[in-house]
Amino acid sequence: MAPLRSLVCFCEGVTTEDVDRALEEGFRDLESLKRRLRVGMGPCQGRYCIPMLISYLSRRLGVPPERLAPPRVRPPLEPVPARLFLGVGDEG
Ligand code: FES
Repeated sequence: MAPLRSLVCFCEGVTTEDVDRALEEGFRDLESLKRRLRVGMGPCQGRYCIPMLISYLSRRLGVPPERLAPPRVRPPLEPVPARLFLGVGDEG
C-alpha cells in the first residue's frame, strides 16, 4: 500500500514528501522552496499553502514560524487596465 501523502499546496499538487525531498536537496527557505516546487505559485497565489508551509517548515527545521519570512510578492510595476488585454476601448 502506498504511503499516505499530505498535500501542502493544493493548486500545484505539492506534498509534504516533495517538501522533505527539497529540504534534503538543500532548499531550506521559503523563497527557494517556492522556486523549486512552485508552491504558492498557483491560482490562489499561496493564500492557503504558504501558512501551511511555514507551519510545516517550522516543525521540521525547529525554527519559530516568525523567523521564516514569507516569499516576496512581485506585483506589476504599474497597474494595467484589463481592457488593454482585450483590445477594447482603445478606438478613441
Ligand atoms: S494552494 Fe498553493 S498556490 Fe494555491
